[in-house]
Amino acid sequence: MLAPRALRNCAPSAPMAGASAQPLSFTVRRTMETAARLNAGETLGSRVLKVDHAGEHGAVNIYRGQSLACRWRSVELRRELAEFQHHEERHRAIFAAELRRRGLKRCRSYHLCGVGGFLLGFITGVCGRPSISATTVAVERVVLRHLEAQLRDLRDSDPDAHRAISSIVDDEQAHHDRAALEKRQGIFWPRVLRPLVSASTEAVIWLGMHL
Ligand SMILES: [Fe+2]
Ligand SMILES: [Fe+2]
Repeated sequence: MLAPRALRNCAPSAPMAGASAQPLSFTVRRTMETAARLNAGETLGSRVLKVDHAGEHGAVNIYRGQSLACRWRSVELRRELAEFQHHEERHRAIFAAELRRRGLKRCRSYHLCGVGGFLLGFITGVCGRPSISATTVAVERVVLRHLEAQLRDLRDSDPDAHRAISSIVDDEQAHHDRAALEKRQGIFWPRVLRPLVSASTEAVIWLGMHL
């Protein structure tokens, strides 16, 4: 009888004759919506937690960069950026606590997310409110799509990871909705930024899941 598709695709590759004993690497492909290259003994939930923790660090730094670039702009905008940054810090702390509880290190992409997020935040912050809103909408669209897939994939296999992810979804949806409602977005910034920001957000998530 054929193994279920998930098991077939998760089978470790056979070691080559004469090769030294290396940790086996498992690859999960198309078995679920969340694709990942998992190390031996690593669960999908643990990898997702690492990547989400790094992503939240990136989000904290996007708002940090935007806040720095917006120091002379309206109080209302600075207050909103500070509020969103506070949410992202809370999200990062949720994933950090779950990683600590599991005795796991942070993702290799953590610092890449931090530096990339800060640069993206600072550059879009300099360009003002329309580019800030377009960036938030683009990032959150990608993030929400990944979170939904993660929730579906982890519902039964990892309730703790599922709980951690569930606890941030409403905030991310609110960030998206508030930015999408911003009337001053115009046409230019969404057209320019959304493809760029979406592609780079997808690329960072892919790297985190496959490094
Ligand atoms: Fe977040
Ligand atoms: Fe967010």
